[in-house]
Amino acid sequence: MSVSIESQPRLTGQTPWFEGDVPAEAVPEKYRLDRAYVPKGRYLDPEFLKLELEKVFTRTWLVACREEELPGVGNYVEYEIGSHSVIVVRESRTAISAYYNACRHRGTRLAKGRGRVGSLICPFHGWRWNLDGSIRLVLDREEFVPRTDEDLGLVRVRAETWGGFVFITMDPNAMPLLEYLDPIPRIFEPFQYQNMRIRWQKGVILPCNWKTALDGFLEAYHVAGTHPQLFRFDKSNTNIASLAELENRVWSPTTTYERHAHYSSIGQKKNTSADAGKDPTARGTNDVVDPRLSVALSVQYIADDMRGLENDRSWRAAEALKTAEVPEGMNAGEYMLQLYRELSVAEGYDWPEIPAEKWADAGTAWNVFPNTILLPNQGSSFMYRARPNGDDPDSCVFEIFSLDQVPVADYGRKRDHQPEFFEDFRDADLGEVFTQDLMNAKEVTVGMHSPSFDGHRLSEDQEMTIYNHHRVADRYLWSE
Ligand code: FES
Ligand SMILES: [Fe+2]
Repeated sequence: MSVSIESQPRLTGQTPWFEGDVPAEAVPEKYRLDRAYVPKGRYLDPEFLKLELEKVFTRTWLVACREEELPGVGNYVEYEIGSHSVIVVRESRTAISAYYNACRHRGTRLAKGRGRVGSLICPFHGWRWNLDGSIRLVLDREEFVPRTDEDLGLVRVRAETWGGFVFITMDPNAMPLLEYLDPIPRIFEPFQYQNMRIRWQKGVILPCNWKTALDGFLEAYHVAGTHPQLFRFDKSNTNIASLAELENRVWSPTTTYERHAHYSSIGQKKNTSADAGKDPTARGTNDVVDPRLSVALSVQYIADDMRGLENDRSWRAAEALKTAEVPEGMNAGEYMLQLYRELSVAEGYDWPEIPAEKWADAGTAWNVFPNTILLPNQGSSFMYRARPNGDDPDSCVFEIFSLDQVPVADYGRKRDHQPEFFEDFRDADLGEVFTQDLMNAKEVTVGMHSPSFDGHRLSEDQEMTIYNHHRVADRYLWSE
């Protein structure tokens, strides 16, 4: 049964109490959350990471890959988390399956990375399995104690899909994916994630806890401090924001749900209220008097610098906007969206007009518990994913997926996809905005290790996405 959004409180500030939450006394004191406070051991202790690997990652639904990464029967992607390795494989045109990546003979890992196979063959002694996991060949089987085919079959991991994402869970008793994701599938429906494909995917090692990597993208409170150029005409000016500029900062309150949470950038703090919702027409560049140029510059900067969220069509729409005659009764932001829609429809995209309430519900960025972030948007989106790097709590693998909706004619088209990987994010050519974000990872970690620092003191309005992650994790960590 799916829980409807109406039944879930939409509060900013302190997260509401949900059935299944564990009482504070169930949590060891050193890891106990307090009001908008998160003790640092939850980030720094190897023992805490061990618990997360045992209890959180084995019992939640995790994004393993995109469906387009498995274009043909036999295509597989290996998904590793902690010491677990899972093979996700296209078993047939309509079915995707997942198995523990371990040979039934002596345990050898069966497949690495990604590729395409006719059957799964162990690299050690050559036992073989069909793509449905059934045993196909045991060399000299008569020499072995008789065992059923069932005993020799690969051990399944549950795999389900939503929005073109393939999720896996190692918990055979986990609730169905759509229920787990609630209310995300309903709120994201207008954005057609199933019709998006990966434009690029880059993974980097970051010198921080896997949650620190995500936390930096779970609030926009840092924007004025970390990305001062975003609202400036001169984007090369990355000097710290002046007090006058801070006056115009954007406010991004957070909303928490039973498992997931989001923030929503809704406008200048002094002019907005918590009831306001995200409005995609409200974009701009401070100090630029011509509203057309103000909107166009902010769109084009994101398109050029981040290479995601915007795309070639929104860039061209922004270019046209600069000199366009904005129709009576419309503002520059609204006209931008109209130009973008016209280009999209003309170029073969399914591009319905999304009502304001749906944009408002969607907000800006969601934590898909536990380790994924999605930025709801029409046409182009980002997904971020973080995983622990081995058993070092101060290291993680962080990945950015830039996704674009494709024209209707390309829905069935297969595409080649190679993710890129960089040991050092400074080699990954990620642009100014991402580089600024990722630079924080090490600084936060170094500072958190200081004996003077005990834990995060979070904003009850703008950082409860971070708090909520820990509240939800407690349900997995401290309940049986
Ligand atoms: S370990 Fe796989 S066939 Fe021997
Ligand atoms: Fe940022």
